[in-house]
Amino acid sequence: MAEETNFRAPELPWWQREALYEVYPRSFQDSDGDGVGDLPGLLQRLDYLAWLGVGAVWITPFYPSPNRDFGYDVSDYCAVDPSMGTLADFHRLAEEAHRRGLRVVVDLVANHTSSDHPWFVESRKSRHSPRRDWYVWRDPGPRGSPPNNWLSFFGGPAWTLDPETGQYYLHQFLPEQPDLNYRNPEVVRAMEDVIRFWLDRGADGFRVDAAWLLVEDEHFRDEPPNPAWRPGMRERDRLLHPYTEDHPDTHRVLRRFRAVLEECGDRQPVLIGEVYLPFAQLVRYYGTREEPECHFPFNFALVDLPADRWSAAELGALVEAYDAARATGAWPGWVLGNHDRPRVATRLGEDGSRLAHVLLLTLPGTPTLYYGDELGMVDGAVDPHRVRDQAGFREWGGRWCRDAARTPMQWDASPHAGFTTGEPWLPVHPDFPERNVTAQEKDPRSFLHLVRRLLWLRRSHPALVAGEFVLVEGEAGVLAYRRQQGRQAWLVALNFSTRPVRLAAEGEVVLSTHLDREGFEGNVELRPREGLVVRLRP
Ligand code: GLC
Ligand code: MG
Repeated sequence: MAEETNFRAPELPWWQREALYEVYPRSFQDSDGDGVGDLPGLLQRLDYLAWLGVGAVWITPFYPSPNRDFGYDVSDYCAVDPSMGTLADFHRLAEEAHRRGLRVVVDLVANHTSSDHPWFVESRKSRHSPRRDWYVWRDPGPRGSPPNNWLSFFGGPAWTLDPETGQYYLHQFLPEQPDLNYRNPEVVRAMEDVIRFWLDRGADGFRVDAAWLLVEDEHFRDEPPNPAWRPGMRERDRLLHPYTEDHPDTHRVLRRFRAVLEECGDRQPVLIGEVYLPFAQLVRYYGTREEPECHFPFNFALVDLPADRWSAAELGALVEAYDAARATGAWPGWVLGNHDRPRVATRLGEDGSRLAHVLLLTLPGTPTLYYGDELGMVDGAVDPHRVRDQAGFREWGGRWCRDAARTPMQWDASPHAGFTTGEPWLPVHPDFPERNVTAQEKDPRSFLHLVRRLLWLRRSHPALVAGEFVLVEGEAGVLAYRRQQGRQAWLVALNFSTRPVRLAAEGEVVLSTHLDREGFEGNVELRPREGLVVRLRP
């Protein structure tokens, strides 16, 4: 037994062995009572993350920003926003994380800057500014209209007129987030320097924001209408996006970013891409052996799968399609939630989310958890008059807003859930007196213990990380698969149906989603909506 739990895959890079944990720093832990989370706050919680069993923390942007998109509008890439701390705080954070065996991944907001960034301020000064070409400027179309029909994610045209110089500039997001022009080699070099800056300060990798949007069509052609558009879909999806998404030259830029990481040799920093595309296009973001790009692009299929399609059949097909799309050796990366989408427990309910976490943490590939999901945190209600995320509110046509998935982390039952001593920037979810870390630590069957058990199980058993994956045909309603390496064989069985089911397999139950029958040996029987991890008899 002992030798089995001793992890024997040191040949794998850390980003394959370990799970990633996304921290939205504004909402994680405040240290100074201003109601906004910060880096020193996160530092205080590193012991929690180490206890939980994740191996790396991805921190969304903490750089100086006017916060039109809460950090995703960067006005200085090489500094820390005063509300988040200082560069020295980042340095300490990285050091203390490393001391605990945790890695630190930072966000690379490469597609656009803030309109307050000195680069843009200079660019917009005149048509002859030396930095004019760092952004995408175009003359107006007929009768002063925008240069073409491209749409912004956050509503309205992707072009804004600069009256001073009489030209439009491109922004795939807010007008306050002008797109950089990656056809200009100086821009590529500037972003390479940003990467080096954070590597020198202890970062272990990057999540490239909007990685599938870096370059657009050089002929600025109009995009065609989307025949599948229906009311209720995002306004931007009225069009198809052959000219603003997934441009071949985007891959050229990502190869350059990756090459900078390769300079680090043994440190093995990771490059992860935010890419919302179907599998066939998604897998191109790995690049090739000769010209690698991302170590893996996030696979958002489980985030995008509507709740009524979380069935064994759909999930089995999805996992197989992803597998078939990847070339041999391309490492998978799964996600259940993030700061842009409704929380998994809101989408699937508590038992659905428990099943989803077993799936996330036993599928081959690197799992990414979103802060608070390990407690089963659900979306907060958003008062339409007090929306902070105006951009996201417009993106979803006022039907949903990202504030809901960004409410403060629920640490304990004290006022404001232990997140802050001041007034939190977003209201704490009212269920915090019952749903919080301290309460769930004491309850051996809590969501928190389920996620923790799964993380440590994955960490301790190479078969669950790098073992072969085989779907097992069996009972309708049950998603079952084996993970196998050497003499270790595991069966994961997830009963998405509301009937009890008996499988033709025997072994020892190592974990149930209910955490109430560990150690049971014999035939594998699943209760309705129960998931099991079973160690099979050799
Ligand atoms: C990414 C981020 C999102 C942000 C957008 C623009 O999609 O995850 O939060 O609004 O990029 O930077
Ligand atoms: Mg603070």
